[in-house]
Amino acid sequence: MTDMFFALQNGREIPKEDKIFGISNRAKAMIATAGKDKVVNATIGALMDDEGRLMVLSSVSEIFKTLDLAECAEYAPIAGTAGFREAVKKDMLRSFVPQRHVEAVASPGGTGALKNAISNYSAPGDSVLVADWYWGPYKTIAQEHGRRLETFRMFDEQGRFDVASLAKKINELLARQDSLVLILNTPAHNPTGYAMDSQDWQLVGAVLEQVDGNKKVALVADAAYIDFAGDEEESRSFLRFLDVMPENVLPLVAHSLSKSYTLYGMRCGALICLAKNEQEAEEFKKVCEFSSRGSWSNCARGPQVILQKIYEDPQLLQKVADERRGFREMLLRRGGAFKAAADESGLEMVPFHGGFFATVPCQEPDRLSAELEKQGIFVVPFTKGIRVSLASVREEKCAELPAIIKKTLCAKNLL
Ligand SMILES: Cc1ncc(COP(=O)(O)O)c(C=O)c1O
Repeated sequence: MTDMFFALQNGREIPKEDKIFGISNRAKAMIATAGKDKVVNATIGALMDDEGRLMVLSSVSEIFKTLDLAECAEYAPIAGTAGFREAVKKDMLRSFVPQRHVEAVASPGGTGALKNAISNYSAPGDSVLVADWYWGPYKTIAQEHGRRLETFRMFDEQGRFDVASLAKKINELLARQDSLVLILNTPAHNPTGYAMDSQDWQLVGAVLEQVDGNKKVALVADAAYIDFAGDEEESRSFLRFLDVMPENVLPLVAHSLSKSYTLYGMRCGALICLAKNEQEAEEFKKVCEFSSRGSWSNCARGPQVILQKIYEDPQLLQKVADERRGFREMLLRRGGAFKAAADESGLEMVPFHGGFFATVPCQEPDRLSAELEKQGIFVVPFTKGIRVSLASVREEKCAELPAIIKKTLCAKNLL
């Protein structure tokens, strides 16, 4: 069965319209007819100010204005410019000094990094493993490459990271395939706002220790929101667990400049490996270059130059960090307001620490989302609940939303 006229389905589930953009368009249409103050657009995955304008780091914008067009117009090397590759490693590692061999290959955003991880470290027909609360494009990328997506239960009944479910799923998959790509999005997980703690990471390490030594696991930490979870050094503390993974595990980090440097549309990021030896690191670079060449070829040079300039100038680096801290604190206040109001109104939330999004579990997410739309509140339904973007809703509204959601859940019998 296929919905296609001419194009090939190739096993992909292609929706009629992108769900999030569809909802967002309805929110925009309602703003146009009912007015801005009647609508809460909690679908957007970019940080907006209280007036609904995209927040751009002025420190980054100033560097952008100094760029010479010739500098950006030239093709960049496939793996990224040497200056960028050094800078992006520093940006991810900060004060952490790994024992392993670190290599980085540029990508168009974190999405490109994830694509390179999946296409190089999983086999056609195999399954890629993610948590059951997951960012939709993981499935798109997997399907686009002829892979499947499978999930483990992210939280147990006590709301703890469900390592037992993860272990079961890893064993199940590795019983039928020789390698596995496991993606863990942390900290400030999309959609829940969960951050894995040291204990979670220790347990994940212990599970991977048990994997048959002949099987290979590429463990991808999707760190797209790393600078919006809390203290930036603390948010990178998971790197020390990656550094001590067993020999048959290759730790990878998908880094993105979209949020951290408000360069969403400039499409810049990198896949970074912490390889156990030089050969593995060289191979990583070679295979990622090959994949890049066969998809986007080289990446935009402009944002690479921006990051290089930031890391060449300690004052500039400090300026960006200070300004970003202000952005982050605003976002974390919004999250705090939402959480406090949820506690007060008895609204259940999926474990939340901070970040762009929070989620509310419910029986019929599509119905709840439709009921909220009638009240001018636009959220994104997931399989097991709704996602509220804290990044695009001002603090006072964040404090009002939980009571409205709770009331709607009760009135419509959706609990
Ligand atoms: C979980 C997650 N990973 C990765 C990304 C990558 O984003 P980009 O390709 O814009 O850098 C996003 C962006 O929304 C995300 O939510």
